[in-house]
Amino acid sequence: MVKICCIGAGYVGGPTMAVIALKCPAVEVVVVDISVARINAWNSDQLPIYEPGLDDVVRQCRGKNLFFSTDVEKHVFEADIIFVSVNTPTKTSGLGAGKAADLTYWESAARMIADVSKSDKIVVEKSTVPVKTAEAIEKILTHNSKGINYQILSNPEFLAEGTAIQDLFNPDRVLIGGRKTPEGQKAVQALKAVYTQWVPEDRVITTNLWSAELTKLAANAILAKRISSINSISALCEATGANITEVAYSVGKDSRIGPKFLNASVGFGGSCFQKDILNLVYICECYGFLEAANYWKTVIKINDYQKSRFVNRVVASMFNTLSGKKIAVLGFAFKKDTGDTRETPAIDVCKGLLADKASISIYDPQVTEDQIQRDLTMNKFDWDHPIHLQPMSPTTVKKVSVTWDAYEATKGAHGICILTEWDEFKGLDYQKIYDNMQKPAFLFDGRNVVDVEKLREIGFVVYSIGKPLDTWLGVMPAVV
Ligand code: NAI
Repeated sequence: MVKICCIGAGYVGGPTMAVIALKCPAVEVVVVDISVARINAWNSDQLPIYEPGLDDVVRQCRGKNLFFSTDVEKHVFEADIIFVSVNTPTKTSGLGAGKAADLTYWESAARMIADVSKSDKIVVEKSTVPVKTAEAIEKILTHNSKGINYQILSNPEFLAEGTAIQDLFNPDRVLIGGRKTPEGQKAVQALKAVYTQWVPEDRVITTNLWSAELTKLAANAILAKRISSINSISALCEATGANITEVAYSVGKDSRIGPKFLNASVGFGGSCFQKDILNLVYICECYGFLEAANYWKTVIKINDYQKSRFVNRVVASMFNTLSGKKIAVLGFAFKKDTGDTRETPAIDVCKGLLADKASISIYDPQVTEDQIQRDLTMNKFDWDHPIHLQPMSPTTVKKVSVTWDAYEATKGAHGICILTEWDEFKGLDYQKIYDNMQKPAFLFDGRNVVDVEKLREIGFVVYSIGKPLDTWLGVMPAVV
């Protein structure tokens, strides 16, 4: 039986390994983590992450050929293939702070592998890492090798949170990079044999190590760029009366462009896009390609601009002050179908509203009150420029409440901000909500989920990103 061990039981390690276990009954998969709480949750009925379809997959194989453990060293020692899926956040201090990837967790995992291994291993980079990381890892492993043969592969993960299980069942492609030596190619084939248990062979791409590492950064940067591109057009739509939905649809019909990732919004979030672009920026800078670095920085700048533009729109529409006003925030996760709030635009938007002295009442179907309070009080690190960076004072914290119901959150509110595109926000009884709000009742849709015309008929003053402005909003000063 082939034994796989995955270091890191997070958003990537957990779902990826669960699907490998399901699709490869002859492989034993153990997911290990230093976080006892996370492993306990994986072994319980309340999994540590919300992902549609995940419960079902875990239920089918946990205890059979899928295991979750904190005994990291034992399972690394026993494994033939070791996936490393630890976090690789942006460095917050020292050389490259604010841009470079922090490889502390990666390096400590590599050193631990070197310490405990007694047999040959294939070590697979699952985490997103800077191009050339495999070379550094190879050095750590081979300088401590005690005669053991290590093969490093790069197998970046392209799943998207919210659709992880679907993406893993039916990936557009699986990418495996390896050394072009006979041993390297043998390792590539061994990993390919795992994936081809369910992925058609023509979707498994094999490349050299550096292409695989760089592809992941490039793919995320280009995806994020599409969002910033359409968001930059949304401002112009509002100023001219063009409708972003119509523009995006018509642009996306060009087969060279395609329809996906062209939804205008309050901005992208998630743990990967900003981090991976900054990582790419840093690598470009290190190689001296400053123009290329600046090019990619603009993708993040437009994203920050979109968030401030949204806050400014709310404040300007509501008579230039939010003092003494209640704003209901519907949705806090960075997108629907996940409880993940890492880099969610809701954090910056809420901080912006609070800075203008609003009281806010937040509802998200998957995010707990604890998480929201943690996110809002955390001192956000500055990548290049400050945006609502100050930690919240205790008095400001008191102005945030979290509810478990959209109707409760909006009761008595002066305005509503929709910040995540949860399906349930489309089907809310907006007449009932309107009746229980202060008038004029404002609704700011940061995800283009509501039917603007219907809401205007009810009586709301509606702002929806990139849509022709309500006459009310049209007379506001051009601050946004
Ligand atoms: P995560 O933070 O959810 O999980 C990482 C886990 O690794 C944590 O539970 C942590 O306790 C554990 N860990 C850290 N050091 C360890 C060590 N030495 N030994 C054992 N466990 C250790 O991170 P996530 O979101 O799963 O991301 C992992 C990697 O995958 C990152 O490089 C990320 O960029 C990449 N990625 C993330 C995607 C996403 O949608 N979240 C998609 C594709 C790639």
